[in-house]
Amino acid sequence: MMAKVKNRFVCQSCGAVHPRWVGHCDECDAWNSIVEEAVPESPPMGGVKSRVQSLSETGTPIEVVNLLGNSKSAHRRKTGIEEFDRVIGNGLVDGSALLIGGDPGIGKSTLLLQVTAALAQTARCIYISGEEAVDQIRLRAARLDVAAKPVELATATNVANIVATLDINDRPDVVVIDSIQTMYCASLGSAPGTVAQIRASAQELIRLAKRLGFALLLVGHVTKEGAIAGPRVLEHMVDTVLYFEGERGHQFRLLRSVKNRFGATDEIGVFEMTGRGLSEVSNPSALFLADRQGEVSGASVFAGIEGTRPMLVEIQALVAQSPLATPRRAVVGWDSARLSMILAVLEARCGLQFGGNDVYLNVVGGLRISEPAADLAVAAALISSLIGEPMPENMIVFGEIGLSGEVRPVNQAEARIREATKLGFTAALTPAFSEQGKKNEPSQKLKVSEIRHLSGLINEFGKDAVKNKSLGKQHG
Ligand code: TYD
Ligand code: MG
Repeated sequence: MMAKVKNRFVCQSCGAVHPRWVGHCDECDAWNSIVEEAVPESPPMGGVKSRVQSLSETGTPIEVVNLLGNSKSAHRRKTGIEEFDRVIGNGLVDGSALLIGGDPGIGKSTLLLQVTAALAQTARCIYISGEEAVDQIRLRAARLDVAAKPVELATATNVANIVATLDINDRPDVVVIDSIQTMYCASLGSAPGTVAQIRASAQELIRLAKRLGFALLLVGHVTKEGAIAGPRVLEHMVDTVLYFEGERGHQFRLLRSVKNRFGATDEIGVFEMTGRGLSEVSNPSALFLADRQGEVSGASVFAGIEGTRPMLVEIQALVAQSPLATPRRAVVGWDSARLSMILAVLEARCGLQFGGNDVYLNVVGGLRISEPAADLAVAAALISSLIGEPMPENMIVFGEIGLSGEVRPVNQAEARIREATKLGFTAALTPAFSEQGKKNEPSQKLKVSEIRHLSGLINEFGKDAVKNKSLGKQHG
């Protein structure tokens, strides 16, 4: 008997199911994201029928093991690509599923081809692409100089075929699926790339990975609009979620872990996209500061922390008289609301006037900073540009700014200062951090000036200079 085909309406951005078509998903606030899909014919776990079956008929009993017993799953496979290994928590875990998301073209396929090539000497690696032909992948491998590595390549998009192939062949150790958006289960009516297909395909592949004990690496494209189902719907199904990010037009890429059952989150790895693929950047601060122009006004060096790593970046500001009635505020690499706040605090608490000026702020190198610790460095760059006085070239700055103009302590002050010392900086402008910390870390090479209020920053430039020049600019 044919079952009656029922349809449901699924939001492609969050996966919520609605009883009928609506223009707006109230779960995630997305507009125009609802797509009609056929309901899968039978629920994956056997459905209503199993309720009347006895235990012996429902199949294999579950395996019960002792907590103290030796665990097979602890085995980790290191790739030797250190930036990658550190982010995933010291190697790939057998039987685990890892999702690597990122914008199209950011370098996910390149990274995973390099990872599988690095592993191929000691492990059986299969790279399955639904996006590129085998010859295309070979060409890329030649360019990456890994063509001689015994990675097995295949093109496929039908999950049933993939599962059947992996199941009869020798057990693989590592399998890459590039990308999950191109995979489909024929039993579902909907098109590849929809939430239902992505979820079902991933479920099927993850189940196989757990059963056969290989590490599964899923690639997922993220789109800005979320019009096509992003990998977000998969995040709870996998063990590890990594995002690969970077600005177009800049060569470096950040690999960030946002979820990890086998290691720390918030860890980052830094890579540089070169003509021959991704190369590791073990000293990112040096890379970000490479093109610094000495003492110029409107620039400061921020000592930030990304994950567990200190990282120095240059922050540039340009404050220029505006021809517009409503002056422009433009920000690259930072939060524009945060910039407005800093400008307001500088005006209200320090008497500076930015009113009639355009303000541009840029984090050099294409890095995105989300730490409030950058406040003080931003303020320094803004003041420096406003009055046309450079910051001391060898000074780093960090600290959070409060609404009354107070400079607040931030975490890991010592790590920031240590990194700056390592790179040859000789001065630091910081919030007051614990006396004890300073005793533990006596540094003759780097002079730390602790300030509690923005007035301390103004003093750094010379109080009178700021007064004269900021006012002069206003009237001139
Ligand atoms: P790719 O790995 O295909 O991105 P994704 O899989 O995330 O869509 O990388 C695509 C970009 O990387 C492409 O624009 C070209 C660039 N690239 C290099 O600069 N050097 C290289 O050696 C390779 C292989 C790619
Ligand atoms: Mg790709």
